[in-house]
Amino acid sequence: IKPKPTVFTIFGGTGDLAARKLIPALYNLYLDGYMPAKFTIVGLGRTDYDNQKFREILLDGINKFSRSGKADAAKWKVFSSCIQYLQSDAKKDKTYQDLEAIIKEKDQEWGEESNIIHYLSVAPQFFPIISKGVATINIENKEQRNRIVIEKPFGHDLDSAKELNKLLQSLFDETQIYRIDHYLGKETVQNMMAFRFANALFEPIWNRNYIEHVQISVTEDIGVEDRGGYYDGSGALKDMVQNHILQVLCLVAMEPPVSFNADEVRNRRVDVLRAIRKFGHEEVKHNTVRGQYASGWVAGEEVLGYREEKGVDPNSNTETFAALKFFIDNWRWQNVPFYVRTGKRMHQKASVISIQFKDVPHPIFPIEASESWQQNRLIISIQPEMSIRLQVQAKRPGLDMILNPVDMVFNYDGTYPAESPEAYETLLLDVMEGDQTLFMRADQIEAAWELLMPVVENWESRKSINFPNYAADSWGPEIAEALIAKDGFHWFTMPVKNKKDKK
Ligand code: BG6
Repeated sequence: IKPKPTVFTIFGGTGDLAARKLIPALYNLYLDGYMPAKFTIVGLGRTDYDNQKFREILLDGINKFSRSGKADAAKWKVFSSCIQYLQSDAKKDKTYQDLEAIIKEKDQEWGEESNIIHYLSVAPQFFPIISKGVATINIENKEQRNRIVIEKPFGHDLDSAKELNKLLQSLFDETQIYRIDHYLGKETVQNMMAFRFANALFEPIWNRNYIEHVQISVTEDIGVEDRGGYYDGSGALKDMVQNHILQVLCLVAMEPPVSFNADEVRNRRVDVLRAIRKFGHEEVKHNTVRGQYASGWVAGEEVLGYREEKGVDPNSNTETFAALKFFIDNWRWQNVPFYVRTGKRMHQKASVISIQFKDVPHPIFPIEASESWQQNRLIISIQPEMSIRLQVQAKRPGLDMILNPVDMVFNYDGTYPAESPEAYETLLLDVMEGDQTLFMRADQIEAAWELLMPVVENWESRKSINFPNYAADSWGPEIAEALIAKDGFHWFTMPVKNKKDKK
């Protein structure tokens, strides 16, 4: 069933996200037949463009960034005829009056009420003014029709997140607010729920009796690129851990929801955040590590250190790497460590979850029989490889009893040869269909901030750190190895492919 007719407004329509992600995603949905039969996309921006110029820029974005490659001329013509540009200033009432006129005109033309989606692809200081502005648009049944989509950062600390939630909830019902975390739209991340709750095999052993520890590692090989200005005020903890990594952790650790209903699923996710052990001074000292990348060489090219990047303070103490050890205080996970790490300019781009099971209770094979002993491990690779591998011990063919670990692999490439949709396609379709399962509720945002605030405050108060402390193209600071090695484990890394295969 196609979504209802839709007016899709993009504040920040001339920005990077619109060109790279939003418009390519909507175009792909159109190609795949998922767009509503009647829709219009209104890009808003201050630049003096006309429709023609705006569409040209978007076409360029599709040709460069869309998974479907170069746009098909005939299909683009039809799709782009549904895109218009509104030169506007978010601070002026006229902007919202113009939008009201467009919506009313479309209602008349289509002969039915449309859903209105306002996508705020703008810097966070514009969230209040725009959300207040769109709430003034005077149309019939706006509670049923209006949806507002917000990109992170959802605040820069607990207080600002609460303030933003309060403002949004004073203007809209929570069912109208879609807070995007693009990790939740990734195929492999969504598959966590299918894997856990559509198979009888794993859930009985998915607990402290069988699982020894869990790792979530989201490493990137790129630096801060041209986002130094934003990133320097944020850092890895706020940019990646507060949102993407904690959301992935919730999917690994959550209790089974009673149904696949948005609030049932979100209730179970927020339960995890609330059960994570609080960080006191000692926990911050022993269970967290931060780092910042130095200059170095990547694939034969010299790259800048973080402090030399554009927009970054040359004395910056902002972390580009963070590693933390969490415990979840509930029955299922008591004393099972969850190690997470993320960093920029690391050796490999890879988002991987590794679940290591406890060892066999009694070894019957002589030590010499095992070439390399590996406890059972489940590796869920989110990207760039999309796979799930279960590592088991096996006997090597031969006359001697020699054991070694082998992988049972489910690889998306082999199993589902058609390309997977991009996260934004999934999420934008969900907004059009009114499904909030993969979006963050106000309480989730606040619970995540509440958890990390002691770390944020501690790190901010202890500025005298020895940055930079890891080389470009490395696995992060050595102390991050120590964080996990002191418990007898090692960070799992995906086998590295050729550098040139990486992107
Ligand atoms: C964004 C962060 O939310 O996620 C970026 O702001 C980061 O700093 C990006 O690079 C990573 O997303 P992905 O999908 O490339 O893993």
